[in-house]
Amino acid sequence: MSDKLPTTWVPGLEGIVAAQTRLSRVDGQAGELIIAGFRVEELAGNASFEETVYLLWHDELPNAGQLTAFRQELAAQRELPQAALDLLRAATTKNVPVMDALRMATASLSLEATAISTIAEAQRDAIILAAKFPTIVAAYKRLLHGREPLLPRADLGHAANFLYMLSGERPSEERTRSLETYLNTVSDHGLNASTFAARVIISTQSDMISAVTGAVGALKGPLHGGAPGPALDMVFEIGEAGKAEPYIRAKLARGERLMGFGHRVYKVRDPRAEVLSLAAKRLYRVDGDMALYELAREVERTAVTLLAEYKPERKLQTNVEFYTALLLHGLGLDTGLFTPTFAIGRVAGWTAHCLEQLGDNRLFRPQSVYTGVKNRRWAPVEER
Ligand code: ACO
Repeated sequence: MSDKLPTTWVPGLEGIVAAQTRLSRVDGQAGELIIAGFRVEELAGNASFEETVYLLWHDELPNAGQLTAFRQELAAQRELPQAALDLLRAATTKNVPVMDALRMATASLSLEATAISTIAEAQRDAIILAAKFPTIVAAYKRLLHGREPLLPRADLGHAANFLYMLSGERPSEERTRSLETYLNTVSDHGLNASTFAARVIISTQSDMISAVTGAVGALKGPLHGGAPGPALDMVFEIGEAGKAEPYIRAKLARGERLMGFGHRVYKVRDPRAEVLSLAAKRLYRVDGDMALYELAREVERTAVTLLAEYKPERKLQTNVEFYTALLLHGLGLDTGLFTPTFAIGRVAGWTAHCLEQLGDNRLFRPQSVYTGVKNRRWAPVEER
């Protein structure tokens, strides 16, 4: 056996640079996030989601004519193929969680997409994916509650149409703005686990639908995009001012993790938490329960203080998921919709990363260190 095999293993690839990208820059020490040249604080509250998607795909903001054409292009692709709707109906009979239904329906979009990954075909598939994600999530949610899905409305923008397809009501400007701010904030974030999964899949010259289906599966886990539901549950379980400390202390003493806190890259407060906390404050002031917002602030302060006490060397701070939960709750979304709504935003980044990878592709193929037994001798089954 060769002794020249690599032996250095970095668990979780922590600190390893596996791609270069023009899409986003995450500075975990400074707590800074740049999305396609803009600080997240600048982009999130100003752009419509369509502008952010265009920016990520084309590396420039659209002018007025380009934006109108792009909005129309996306709106024209919102409806689902019948087979996807049939699949969603079948999923309701097993009460499949929304994230799993989204993954299943995403895979079914191969019915409309192409299986060959030229960049032009991949771009077409990217439009199909971004346009249909809100329709899948809203249709499934309605079906789960025994209601028929609503047809998308081409006269509404991407974010407003999603809220409309969920509730049947045209959302207010304030609610639409809140959702756009959220979707923009989570649209891209360096080489996170789901984006890496998508890039690995597309690097085999597979196809965009496969890459994004894999990414949805990766996002689902509680260590990645699955945290906001439990984060909000914690706020509700605490329930009232003054009760956060004993509750959180007990959790940490049991060795449990606090969802919505800690990050592999950020060692200071996640800048997205700040953007979403301000967006939530605005929304709750106009149209929500300010007492809940204040309670969440108290829970955050207590959690950060106690994490510093219990894990002083870890620098655990609030991450994006904590205020995601509060903002999406304020928009009337239940916890089962939090991670799927994250996917509706992040699909912009996944598809942009796939396009970028295809533009300068090299197959991802790292190595592993073998830790198994060496020199086994074969024994016939009757001798084992
Ligand atoms: N609560 C309590 N302790 C924590 C937390 C937390 N939220 N996060 C990390 N720790 C502790 C771990 O228990 C561990 O302690 P130990 O060394 O004494 O055993 C130490 O900090 C390091 O933990 P790792 O898992 O090695 O740190 P990593 O960098 O891999 O963690 C992660 C990042 C997975 C996000 C982690 O902080 C976590 O589990 N957070 C809670 C889940 C969450 O909020 N996920 C959303 C992340 S944002 C996103 O993906 C969109």
